[in-house]
Amino acid sequence: MKRNYSIAIDGPAASGKSTAAKIVAKKLSFLYVDTGAMYRAFTLFLIENGKNPCSEEEALSLLPLFEMKEDKEGHVYLKGRDVTSRVRENDVSNEVSYACAYKAVREKMVELQRKMAEDESVVMDGRDIGTVVLPHADLKIYQIASVEARAQRRYLENQKKGIPGTLEEIAKDIERRDYIDSHREHSPLRMAEDAIVLDTSNMTIEEEVEEILSLFSKKAGVKWNDTEQSL
Ligand code: CDP
Ligand code: CDP
Repeated sequence: MKRNYSIAIDGPAASGKSTAAKIVAKKLSFLYVDTGAMYRAFTLFLIENGKNPCSEEEALSLLPLFEMKEDKEGHVYLKGRDVTSRVRENDVSNEVSYACAYKAVREKMVELQRKMAEDESVVMDGRDIGTVVLPHADLKIYQIASVEARAQRRYLENQKKGIPGTLEEIAKDIERRDYIDSHREHSPLRMAEDAIVLDTSNMTIEEEVEEILSLFSKKAGVKWNDTEQSL
Protein backbone atom coordinates (compact mmCIF):
# COMPACT_ATOMS: atom_id res chain seq x y z
CA MET A 1 0.00 0.00 0.00
CA LYS A 2 1.23 3.51 -0.83
CA ARG A 3 2.39 5.28 2.34
CA ASN A 4 1.16 8.69 3.38
CA TYR A 5 3.55 11.60 3.53
CA SER A 6 3.37 14.72 5.63
CA ILE A 7 4.97 18.14 5.40
CA ALA A 8 4.76 20.44 8.44
CA ILE A 9 5.25 24.18 7.98
CA ASP A 10 5.42 26.39 11.06
CA GLY A 11 6.52 29.93 11.73
CA PRO A 12 5.42 33.41 12.73
CA ALA A 13 2.55 35.40 11.21
CA ALA A 14 2.67 36.31 7.53
CA SER A 15 5.94 34.52 6.83
CA GLY A 16 4.41 33.02 3.71
CA LYS A 17 3.44 29.61 5.09
CA SER A 18 -0.05 29.17 3.74
CA THR A 19 0.65 30.57 0.27
CA ALA A 20 3.53 28.17 -0.25
CA ALA A 21 1.82 25.26 1.52
CA LYS A 22 -1.22 25.52 -0.72
CA ILE A 23 0.84 25.42 -3.93
CA VAL A 24 3.10 22.62 -2.70
CA ALA A 25 0.04 20.56 -1.75
CA LYS A 26 -1.49 21.11 -5.17
CA LYS A 27 1.68 20.13 -7.00
CA LEU A 28 2.06 16.96 -4.94
CA SER A 29 -1.68 16.20 -4.91
CA PHE A 30 -1.61 16.26 -1.11
CA LEU A 31 -4.33 17.58 1.14
CA TYR A 32 -3.70 21.13 2.36
CA VAL A 33 -4.69 21.93 5.94
CA ASP A 34 -4.68 25.55 7.13
CA THR A 35 -4.73 25.10 10.90
CA GLY A 36 -4.72 28.87 11.53
CA ALA A 37 -8.07 29.05 9.77
CA MET A 38 -9.47 26.53 12.26
CA TYR A 39 -8.48 28.68 15.25
CA ARG A 40 -9.76 31.73 13.41
CA ALA A 41 -13.10 29.99 12.80
CA PHE A 42 -13.42 29.18 16.50
CA THR A 43 -12.66 32.83 17.35
CA LEU A 44 -15.33 34.02 14.92
CA PHE A 45 -17.78 31.54 16.43
CA LEU A 46 -17.15 33.10 19.88
CA ILE A 47 -17.44 36.67 18.60
CA GLU A 48 -20.67 35.99 16.74
CA ASN A 49 -22.17 34.39 19.83
CA GLY A 50 -21.25 37.29 22.07
CA LYS A 51 -18.52 35.45 23.98
CA ASN A 52 -15.27 37.06 25.06
CA PRO A 53 -12.29 35.12 23.60
CA CYS A 54 -10.12 36.40 26.47
CA SER A 55 -12.28 34.59 29.02
CA GLU A 56 -11.43 30.91 29.26
CA GLU A 57 -14.77 30.16 30.88
CA GLU A 58 -16.74 31.87 28.10
CA ALA A 59 -14.61 30.37 25.33
CA LEU A 60 -14.85 26.82 26.68
CA SER A 61 -18.60 27.11 27.18
CA LEU A 62 -18.99 27.09 23.38
CA LEU A 63 -16.28 24.58 22.53
CA PRO A 64 -18.61 21.52 22.58
CA LEU A 65 -20.90 23.31 20.08
CA PHE A 66 -18.11 24.26 17.70
CA GLU A 67 -18.25 22.47 14.38
CA MET A 68 -16.34 23.43 11.30
CA LYS A 69 -15.32 22.00 7.95
CA GLU A 70 -12.27 22.74 5.86
CA ASP A 71 -12.19 21.65 2.22
CA LYS A 72 -9.19 20.62 0.14
CA GLU A 73 -8.48 24.18 -0.94
CA GLY A 74 -8.45 25.47 2.62
CA HIS A 75 -11.95 27.00 2.50
CA VAL A 76 -13.45 27.07 5.96
CA TYR A 77 -17.12 26.56 6.79
CA LEU A 78 -19.02 27.30 10.00
CA LYS A 79 -22.33 25.44 9.99
CA GLY A 80 -22.21 25.32 6.19
CA ARG A 81 -21.40 29.04 5.77
CA ASP A 82 -18.18 29.86 3.92
CA VAL A 83 -16.21 32.05 6.34
CA THR A 84 -12.83 31.84 4.57
CA SER A 85 -12.60 35.60 3.97
CA ARG A 86 -14.48 36.60 7.09
CA VAL A 87 -11.97 34.92 9.42
CA ARG A 88 -9.15 37.06 8.00
CA GLU A 89 -10.79 40.29 9.18
CA ASN A 90 -9.29 42.41 11.96
CA ASP A 91 -11.73 41.57 14.76
CA VAL A 92 -10.76 37.90 14.42
CA SER A 93 -7.01 38.61 13.97
CA ASN A 94 -7.08 40.71 17.14
CA GLU A 95 -8.54 37.94 19.31
CA VAL A 96 -7.40 34.66 17.80
CA SER A 97 -4.21 34.35 19.84
CA TYR A 98 -6.28 34.41 23.04
CA ALA A 99 -8.99 32.02 21.88
CA CYS A 100 -6.48 29.44 20.65
CA ALA A 101 -4.34 29.34 23.78
CA TYR A 102 -6.65 27.24 25.99
CA LYS A 103 -5.61 23.61 26.50
CA ALA A 104 -9.04 22.16 25.69
CA VAL A 105 -9.29 24.19 22.49
CA ARG A 106 -5.89 22.99 21.32
CA GLU A 107 -6.70 19.38 22.16
CA LYS A 108 -9.89 19.48 20.10
CA MET A 109 -8.17 21.10 17.10
CA VAL A 110 -5.15 18.79 17.22
CA GLU A 111 -7.46 15.78 17.23
CA LEU A 112 -9.27 17.11 14.14
CA GLN A 113 -5.96 17.90 12.41
CA ARG A 114 -4.49 14.45 13.07
CA LYS A 115 -7.68 12.86 11.74
CA MET A 116 -7.28 14.82 8.51
CA ALA A 117 -3.74 13.51 8.14
CA GLU A 118 -4.68 9.91 8.94
CA ASP A 119 -5.72 8.68 5.53
CA GLU A 120 -4.03 11.14 3.22
CA SER A 121 -0.71 12.77 2.49
CA VAL A 122 -0.82 16.32 3.82
CA VAL A 123 0.84 19.69 3.85
CA MET A 124 -0.18 21.37 7.10
CA ASP A 125 0.78 24.85 8.23
CA GLY A 126 0.48 26.52 11.61
CA ARG A 127 2.48 27.09 14.80
CA ASP A 128 2.73 23.65 16.43
CA ILE A 129 2.59 21.23 13.52
CA GLY A 130 6.17 19.97 13.68
CA THR A 131 6.29 20.02 17.49
CA VAL A 132 2.85 18.66 18.46
CA VAL A 133 0.44 17.77 15.67
CA LEU A 134 2.72 15.77 13.34
CA PRO A 135 5.92 15.10 15.27
CA HIS A 136 6.89 12.40 12.74
CA ALA A 137 6.37 14.54 9.63
CA ASP A 138 8.63 13.65 6.70
CA LEU A 139 9.68 17.26 6.36
CA LYS A 140 9.46 20.09 8.87
CA ILE A 141 9.98 23.65 7.75
CA TYR A 142 10.27 26.60 10.10
CA GLN A 143 9.56 29.60 7.98
CA ILE A 144 10.73 33.05 9.03
CA ALA A 145 11.00 36.52 7.48
CA SER A 146 11.81 39.98 8.78
CA VAL A 147 8.95 41.87 10.45
CA GLU A 148 9.28 44.53 7.73
CA ALA A 149 8.85 42.00 4.91
CA ARG A 150 5.97 40.30 6.67
CA ALA A 151 4.14 43.52 7.46
CA GLN A 152 4.59 44.80 3.92
CA ARG A 153 3.22 41.56 2.45
CA ARG A 154 0.24 41.41 4.77
CA TYR A 155 -0.43 45.09 4.10
CA LEU A 156 -0.60 44.50 0.34
CA GLU A 157 -2.74 41.40 0.86
CA ASN A 158 -5.17 43.27 3.14
CA GLN A 159 -5.41 46.17 0.72
CA LYS A 160 -6.42 43.77 -2.06
CA LYS A 161 -9.02 42.19 0.22
CA GLY A 162 -10.31 45.55 1.45
CA ILE A 163 -9.23 44.91 5.05
CA PRO A 164 -8.33 48.25 6.68
CA GLY A 165 -5.13 48.99 8.62
CA THR A 166 -1.91 50.94 8.18
CA LEU A 167 1.48 49.31 7.68
CA GLU A 168 2.40 50.26 11.28
CA GLU A 169 -0.79 48.72 12.69
CA ILE A 170 -0.16 45.51 10.79
CA ALA A 171 3.46 45.32 11.94
CA LYS A 172 2.27 45.80 15.54
CA ASP A 173 -0.41 43.12 15.17
CA ILE A 174 1.98 40.49 13.84
CA GLU A 175 4.59 41.26 16.49
CA ARG A 176 1.96 41.14 19.22
CA ARG A 177 0.61 37.81 17.97
CA ASP A 178 4.09 36.33 17.58
CA TYR A 179 4.82 37.30 21.18
CA ILE A 180 1.61 35.78 22.58
CA ASP A 181 1.94 32.69 20.39
CA SER A 182 5.51 31.99 21.45
CA HIS A 183 4.96 32.67 25.17
CA ARG A 184 1.76 30.72 25.81
CA GLU A 185 1.77 27.70 28.10
CA HIS A 186 0.30 25.11 25.74
CA SER A 187 2.00 24.31 22.42
CA PRO A 188 3.80 27.61 21.98
CA LEU A 189 5.22 28.63 18.63
CA ARG A 190 8.71 27.21 18.48
CA MET A 191 10.90 25.41 16.03
CA ALA A 192 11.00 21.62 16.16
CA GLU A 193 14.53 20.31 16.72
CA ASP A 194 14.55 18.59 13.36
CA ALA A 195 13.02 21.46 11.38
CA ILE A 196 14.79 23.26 8.57
CA VAL A 197 14.76 27.06 8.73
CA LEU A 198 13.64 28.86 5.62
CA ASP A 199 14.10 32.63 5.62
CA THR A 200 11.69 33.94 3.01
CA SER A 201 12.46 37.67 3.48
CA ASN A 202 13.98 37.90 0.02
CA MET A 203 12.27 34.96 -1.64
CA THR A 204 9.48 34.98 -4.16
CA ILE A 205 6.61 32.56 -3.68
CA GLU A 206 7.93 30.47 -6.60
CA GLU A 207 11.38 30.22 -4.98
CA GLU A 208 9.79 29.20 -1.70
CA VAL A 209 7.75 26.48 -3.35
CA GLU A 210 10.75 25.16 -5.29
CA GLU A 211 12.85 25.02 -2.14
CA ILE A 212 10.20 23.15 -0.17
CA LEU A 213 9.68 20.63 -2.99
CA SER A 214 13.40 20.07 -3.31
CA LEU A 215 13.82 19.60 0.46
CA PHE A 216 10.90 17.20 0.48
CA SER A 217 12.38 15.10 -2.33
CA LYS A 218 15.66 14.82 -0.45
CA LYS A 219 14.17 14.23 3.01
CA ALA A 220 11.51 11.72 2.07
CA GLY A 221 13.79 10.02 -0.46
CA VAL A 222 11.24 10.35 -3.22
CA LYS A 223 11.65 11.79 -6.66
CA TRP A 224 9.14 14.46 -7.51
CA ASN A 225 8.41 15.02 -11.14
CA ASP A 226 6.86 18.33 -12.07
CA THR A 227 5.38 16.90 -15.24
CA GLU A 228 3.52 14.22 -13.30
CA GLN A 229 2.44 16.67 -10.58
CA SER A 230 1.94 13.78 -8.22
CA LEU A 231 3.96 11.19 -6.38
O1 CDP B 1 -1.95 33.88 8.53
P1 CDP B 1 -1.45 34.33 9.87
O2 CDP B 1 -0.02 33.96 10.07
O3 CDP B 1 -1.74 35.75 10.16
O4 CDP B 1 -2.23 33.56 10.97
P2 CDP B 1 -2.85 32.10 10.96
O5 CDP B 1 -1.87 31.09 10.48
O6 CDP B 1 -4.15 32.17 10.29
O7 CDP B 1 -3.03 31.86 12.52
C1 CDP B 1 -3.83 32.73 13.30
C2 CDP B 1 -3.51 32.48 14.76
O8 CDP B 1 -3.96 31.19 15.12
C3 CDP B 1 -2.04 32.53 15.15
O9 CDP B 1 -1.56 33.84 15.42
C4 CDP B 1 -2.04 31.67 16.39
O10 CDP B 1 -2.48 32.42 17.51
C5 CDP B 1 -3.10 30.63 16.10
N1 CDP B 1 -2.58 29.35 15.61
C6 CDP B 1 -2.10 28.45 16.55
O11 CDP B 1 -2.06 28.75 17.74
N2 CDP B 1 -1.70 27.21 16.16
C7 CDP B 1 -1.72 26.85 14.89
N3 CDP B 1 -1.35 25.62 14.54
C8 CDP B 1 -2.19 27.77 13.90
C9 CDP B 1 -2.58 29.02 14.30
O1 CDP C 1 0.49 31.83 6.14
P1 CDP C 1 1.31 33.00 6.58
O2 CDP C 1 0.59 33.89 7.53
O3 CDP C 1 2.67 32.61 7.08
O4 CDP C 1 1.62 33.91 5.30
P2 CDP C 1 0.85 34.00 3.91
O5 CDP C 1 -0.57 34.35 4.18
O6 CDP C 1 1.14 32.80 3.09
O7 CDP C 1 1.60 35.21 3.23
C1 CDP C 1 1.35 36.55 3.57
C2 CDP C 1 1.38 37.38 2.31
O8 CDP C 1 2.71 37.41 1.80
C3 CDP C 1 0.51 36.82 1.18
O9 CDP C 1 -0.18 37.88 0.59
C4 CDP C 1 1.50 36.24 0.18
O10 CDP C 1 1.07 36.34 -1.13
C5 CDP C 1 2.73 37.11 0.41
N1 CDP C 1 4.02 36.43 0.15
C6 CDP C 1 4.96 37.06 -0.65
O11 CDP C 1 4.73 38.15 -1.15
N2 CDP C 1 6.17 36.45 -0.88
C7 CDP C 1 6.46 35.27 -0.33
N3 CDP C 1 7.64 34.71 -0.56
C8 CDP C 1 5.49 34.64 0.48
C9 CDP C 1 4.28 35.24 0.71
